[in-house]
Amino acid sequence: MNEEQKKQTNQIQSAPNLNAARKRGRETISYQRDFVIPEQMSRIGEGKKYYIRTYGCQMNEHDSEVMGGILSEMGFTTTDQVDEADIILLNTCAVRENAENRVFGEIGHLKSLKRHNPDVILGICGCMSQEEGVVERLLQKHQFVDLIFGTHNIHRLPELLQQCYMSKENVVEVWSKEGDIIENLPKLRQGGIKAWVNIMFGCDKFCTYCIVPYTRGKERSRRPEDIIQEVRELAASGYQEVTLLGQNVNAYGKDFVDLDYRFDKLLDDLRKIDIPRIRFTTSHPRDFNDDLIDVLAKGGNLMPHIHLPAQSGSTEMLKIMGRKHTREQYMTLVNKMKEKIPNLSLSTDLIVGFPNETREQFEDTLSLYQTVRYDIAYTFIYSPREGTPAAKMQDNVPAEEKKQRLLELNEIVNTIALEKNKTFEGKIVPVLVEGVSKKNENILSGYTPQNKLTNFVGPKSAIGKIVPVHITEAKTWSLNGEMISESERKV
Ligand code: SAH
Ligand code: SF4
Ligand code: F3S
Repeated sequence: MNEEQKKQTNQIQSAPNLNAARKRGRETISYQRDFVIPEQMSRIGEGKKYYIRTYGCQMNEHDSEVMGGILSEMGFTTTDQVDEADIILLNTCAVRENAENRVFGEIGHLKSLKRHNPDVILGICGCMSQEEGVVERLLQKHQFVDLIFGTHNIHRLPELLQQCYMSKENVVEVWSKEGDIIENLPKLRQGGIKAWVNIMFGCDKFCTYCIVPYTRGKERSRRPEDIIQEVRELAASGYQEVTLLGQNVNAYGKDFVDLDYRFDKLLDDLRKIDIPRIRFTTSHPRDFNDDLIDVLAKGGNLMPHIHLPAQSGSTEMLKIMGRKHTREQYMTLVNKMKEKIPNLSLSTDLIVGFPNETREQFEDTLSLYQTVRYDIAYTFIYSPREGTPAAKMQDNVPAEEKKQRLLELNEIVNTIALEKNKTFEGKIVPVLVEGVSKKNENILSGYTPQNKLTNFVGPKSAIGKIVPVHITEAKTWSLNGEMISESERKV
């Protein structure tokens, strides 16, 4: 064994394994409240800075807030200048190949930074670190990466950093099997206006194209009392909005063995808390039951926006995708929602160019879109993910054809988005103001209840508040307007 090989075998405490990640055990989840920073690490960060770059979904954004919380408790402060940092963490996303390519590109850039400053600790975490192929590639080709840790190992960050500081070898700790839910992790939230709140972790749906169930483990729900307490505390500290997070929030509570308490009950309890806005993401059509629609119909602080990924409008395609719903079931659900929830805005995710998707099947997606008339959609070209069933399927759709389909779909998405936004022209809508526009100091921006980005003229004192805005112009991706002053409101 040469030195290089020795280095590789010594450093791995646990490497990812997609086969192990696929397994779903029956063991119940335990809830821990015993997170502590080890004494010897509690001041290690004094005078040092950390930089976290986050890719992917809201789950990752929130995980980065937890890592920020842990690092702050160790004395580190945050920086947005990568070349000032003593610790650099890339919190990665594995959902499509281009997400991964961006991360590998960034790692390439950081190589020279690492060469100039070898004491910097470069860590890779998030969903990519759960993939065997990625970890092998990092260890073989990017030896300058000091630390690799998985989505189930975030609470181990202090110990892992300690190992990095003590030895010159790289540290790899990726558990393929999910661990317990740890309730008392510190969080350094961004902003002070809107907060993410995890309600559950993992996914058991195993859509055939998707890597998430492998990178995030089995579905585990937080206990209701812990979620309610967290939202109460956020309300008490002045937050205006919470977004409840889960890969499939409608499956909330399915894993409780001692409680009959599902997402509708959770929302019904949370809506009584004095916080102006509650949102949630993401909903899977399969578990969206009537009770849940009835709770949402109560309105109040439950915002009228549902992100309901359809993925395809073809029942045949949905079957091969393993989505467990048909086009007809999806349409029935959407019609019920529209009927019962006033002013509902709907958004979705769609995949084009799934293996062997025919022109006809693609057109079913277009027709679904035109029938539902979503407010907005996130559209993707199918990307094979190693270890998923779809990655093994033969594919007869040329890449060029897939690109064309995406363009065709996006044209419809944009046209309908603008038409939907136009219905707000001339109306006065409440906007939660998040800050000033990046391009113009005098322009404020925020979101309406339907989650429409709104740019408008108004005073900086409005930041952090919900204010009435008169919509003057609709664009495809946003609204423009003017804030209504107190005196105008009384007229
Ligand atoms: N849990 C969420 C979505 C997580 S991933 C849900 O089920 O709704 C976000 C979106 O990425 C998915 O809705 C899907 O549209 C897209 N996606 C996932 N895997 C993909 C793949 N292999 N290729 C292309 N798009 C994919
Ligand atoms: Fe992926 Fe499907 Fe789970 Fe969403 S529901 S995270 S698309 S497997
Ligand atoms: Fe990406 Fe992981 Fe989220 S794969 S979309 S960061 S759950």
